[in-house]
Amino acid sequence: EKEGYDHFMLKEIYEQPKTILDAMRGRISSKESRVILRGMEEYANRFVRANRIIIVACGTSYHSGLIGEYLIEDLARIPVEVEYASEFRYRNPIINEHDVVIAISQSGETADTLAALELAKSKGALIYGIVNSVGSSIARLTDAGSYIHCGPEIGVASTKAFTGQVTVLTLLALSLARKLSTISNTYFQTLLSELELIPQKVEETLKSSDHIKYIAKEIKGHHNALYLGRGYNFPVALEGALKLKEISYIHAEGYPAAEMKHGPIALIDENMPVIVTATNRSAYEKIVSNVQEVVARKGRVIAIVNKGEQAITRIADHVIEIPDTEEPFSPLLSVIPLQLLSYYIAVELGKNVDQPRNLAKSVTVE
Ligand code: M6R
Repeated sequence: EKEGYDHFMLKEIYEQPKTILDAMRGRISSKESRVILRGMEEYANRFVRANRIIIVACGTSYHSGLIGEYLIEDLARIPVEVEYASEFRYRNPIINEHDVVIAISQSGETADTLAALELAKSKGALIYGIVNSVGSSIARLTDAGSYIHCGPEIGVASTKAFTGQVTVLTLLALSLARKLSTISNTYFQTLLSELELIPQKVEETLKSSDHIKYIAKEIKGHHNALYLGRGYNFPVALEGALKLKEISYIHAEGYPAAEMKHGPIALIDENMPVIVTATNRSAYEKIVSNVQEVVARKGRVIAIVNKGEQAITRIADHVIEIPDTEEPFSPLLSVIPLQLLSYYIAVELGKNVDQPRNLAKSVTVE
């Protein structure tokens, strides 16, 4: 039930401090400096010796897969490719028993993802699932996997499943990094202690809800929006744009911030809200200059920044402050304001938030 919330989507957004904790529960011990993903342990050798990891998924799960690519390559130094399941299965991919194929799916029933896995299995790859629905088709087909333990997700727009998937991918990357000694013990320990703080930082992030509601009123009348981010926050930009499209029917695109000047900058004028995630520590100066380029063309900037940020705060139309964290964990915080923004815009526009037109919760046809 909705437990007093107006919509399932809002309830699920607010559940995230708890669901992220549930995804970590029993899997980390910062005191003992350990990360244990039981499903992976059984096949640890296949993972650490893998030539590459291929992640297949659709929609929001594809976006969490992209974050998985950044995490696993950055921390564990294993090459990762991420592919839309529908493309992977029809393009005669090169794949063999030295590959690990990870499927990410909330429902565990997405037809394209299931078919991509069947193909990978037939080629001898180890197939692994990161799934929410216990006992679903994907969970049953895979050799092993890790549930995200988020509980049922009812809203068609995926929210808590996304952060649950990213949490599990983070644990996977950390666990592999440990096995492969690709990061120092000190950094590993720093990351682990910080990860344990994420649920309370999500709680803190949710406090900007009223401010976001106000921003939503301001931009609800626009017909387009551009979402920008760099590094770990690039997939977050894609996810923010998808959320807006799905429930408010406003056209939106996500772009890597630096790619803007290769085309989309032509679209920018006073009618184009640009939502920028600028919480990165690395390439911070670069993102500041990307924002300046937007401002110079009169674009309306809504920026997600860390508390106390100044350069962007001075020039943006609106800023949403979120707590600072280690860069690999920033998507777990920065996606929250984007979920809330799309939610409040859709509510303002009177749309059916939980069951948007033309969409189904799980896509069981090709
Ligand atoms: O159940 P799955 O994670 O496999 O679903 C994949 C997509 O259909 C899903 O993420 C879809 O894009 C959502 N409506 C996004 O909010």
